[in-house]
Amino acid sequence: MKKLHKLFFAAGLMIVAACLMFTACTKEGKQGTAGVNGINGVNGTNGMNGQDGTAVCMVCHTVANFDKKIAEYHFSKHYYGTSSARNTKFCARCHTSEGFQQIVISGQYVVANDMPEANRINCTTCHHHSSFDFTGDTVSQILRTNTPVYLNYNKNLVATDFGKINNLCVTCHQIRGATALVYSDTTKRPQVLKKAFDQLPYFPFSNATDLDTVQYRVSRSFAVHDGNQSNLFTGINGYEYKGKTYTRIWKHSANACTDCHMNTYNPADSTGGHSLRVNKAECTACHGSDKLAPIQIAITSKLSELAQLLNARKVFKKTVTATSTTYSAEPTHDFNGKLYPTTQTAGNLFATSVSNNTVSPTTGLVVYDNMLKYAVDADYTNRIGRVWKYGELGAAYNYAYINSELSLGVHNPTYALQLLQNSIDWLNANP
Ligand code: HEC
Ligand code: HEC
Ligand code: HEC
Ligand code: HEC
Ligand code: HEC
Ligand code: HEC
Repeated sequence: MKKLHKLFFAAGLMIVAACLMFTACTKEGKQGTAGVNGINGVNGTNGMNGQDGTAVCMVCHTVANFDKKIAEYHFSKHYYGTSSARNTKFCARCHTSEGFQQIVISGQYVVANDMPEANRINCTTCHHHSSFDFTGDTVSQILRTNTPVYLNYNKNLVATDFGKINNLCVTCHQIRGATALVYSDTTKRPQVLKKAFDQLPYFPFSNATDLDTVQYRVSRSFAVHDGNQSNLFTGINGYEYKGKTYTRIWKHSANACTDCHMNTYNPADSTGGHSLRVNKAECTACHGSDKLAPIQIAITSKLSELAQLLNARKVFKKTVTATSTTYSAEPTHDFNGKLYPTTQTAGNLFATSVSNNTVSPTTGLVVYDNMLKYAVDADYTNRIGRVWKYGELGAAYNYAYINSELSLGVHNPTYALQLLQNSIDWLNANP
């Protein structure tokens, strides 16, 4: 009987919760997912020990509060961004709600399978009740995870603690690396996989004696993916020159991501709160002046100085258009590791990769199939004609590391400027 009573009580609360969720759910299609979870109430039946649901639950579960959160969330790129279609095995953990939920449980770096049906990041991605008796539950513990993060950069071997709430964000906002091409060469059919998918940016970790590791091939990228905010924030994972000291701590090191990205919501410009957009008026109020602009100017200037040095020694290529000047790394080798000559030769280099990627009609997922083609080296005048030196590699990596951030170093100006300055100094000292 006691058990039955408990079940009824639990069911009652679930209905209260489910209705509240539902009120919110009717507004937006995407929230429907969360509502379904509520009705299932898997968690609710577990830890329920008969607390007063109205009092305890209503702290958060009022229609007004949830409506407010939903409205704010609609200004977040988690909601309006277009990248939730990145639902294949290598992307789903960070780009979809179900993918994230799966890796939080499995502890794996990638999800088990492609997830064509997965939804975009929503309330349920970040929030999850541990149990309904609220034993030890705090506001932060309604977060799905706050445990230390196995960084991809550390090959998923060591857990790093970024602080409770930060661990949630960092599970996704960390260096991933680039989508290396999966390719095969035209001389071999059926196709031979020449390069496996590697989520790390192309960067040999050890200062190896094997110079082959310093080849910069077309298919290996310096990109750290967009999400390296946490690595920079903590002052780690840049290329650090031997004999130089690096300062990892800066003024806001003790802050959580949410201190800046979830500060007070400002309806005037839809920043703060669950928009996760920084309400900058609050920063300026405390600083007394704009601290961001001067930093961004300083970083931009150092980035440009570094890029010009790399360009001068043919490590980087400069592309000028009417509206922008961009720099990109100039490969030393073709797709198969053959050195690019600096003079024109007939096309015996695997200089191009032609995409035969298709979308599977059954799964809706991309099936990767890139074919390497012999081609004339169209860019021979820009070739360096030798393997890169290790210091050049580090400098190019540091450029990409800081340049990938739209906020240009704001997540740790001290470390960012040291990475850039030391790269510049190394290039000047080693012509
Ligand atoms: C500190 C704020 C907070 C408190 C207190 C709180 N909740 Fe929640 N609850 C949330 C958030 C945030 C979500 C996630 C919303 C979503 O997934 O759409 C949630 C989700 C749920 C869900 C959906 C299922 C799930 O686990 O994701 C149910 C059911 C629920 N809460 C019931 C309750 C009940 C019952 C209580 C009181 C015993 C309670 N909540 C107290 C914030 C809270
Ligand atoms: C499930 C993975 C995941 C989690 C957890 C996550 N993010 Fe994100 N975040 C993303 C992805 C993916 C995007 C890009 C979305 C798009 O463009 O479609 C993004 C975008 C953003 C943006 C907008 C970036 C821009 O270019 O405008 C901010 C700001 C942000 N996240 C902050 C946070 C903070 C703060 C947290 C922790 C409270 C957090 N994120 C948690 C994956 C995540
Ligand atoms: C470790 C987590 C993680 C993985 C794995 C991941 N991403 Fe991302 N991705 C992010 C985050 C975080 C952002 C947003 C960062 C920002 O805005 O600075 C992002 C942004 C993007 C964007 C830019 C979106 C925009 O609106 O500008 C694209 C495109 C993208 N990712 C594609 C992919 C693809 C393709 C894969 C799989 C091959 C992948 N990502 C795997 C975390 C990840
Ligand atoms: C990117 C992750 C993320 C997403 C998505 C997200 N939240 Fe939150 N939410 C947080 C974090 C972080 C906190 C703050 C926890 C703390 O301070 O302890 C929070 C706090 C809350 C709280 C408790 C604090 C309060 O002001 O009442 C509620 C309720 C809540 N979120 C509801 C929602 C709802 C509803 C959605 C979907 C519209 C949502 N959240 C989406 C990360 C997220
Ligand atoms: C409680 C007060 C306070 C708030 C709020 C605050 N800051 Fe700061 N911030 C400081 C102090 C103090 C410094 C160090 C001042 C100095 O070096 O002149 C600083 C320095 C900085 C710096 C480095 C400046 C430099 O030249 O090295 C950045 C970047 C920064 N803050 C960003 C932000 C952002 C973004 C926000 C808003 C989300 C913010 N701060 C909110 C107090 C605050
Ligand atoms: C000191 C305040 C502060 C802290 C702490 C902070 N950020 Fe930011 N973040 C900013 C500012 C300022 C911007 C630029 C926003 C703008 O220009 O609108 C930004 C931009 C971003 C962006 C947009 C893309 C980019 O790189 O510019 C993402 C994503 C992001 N932050 C994620 C995070 C994550 C994850 C954390 C925690 C590891 C974090 N931030 C901690 C202030 C902060």
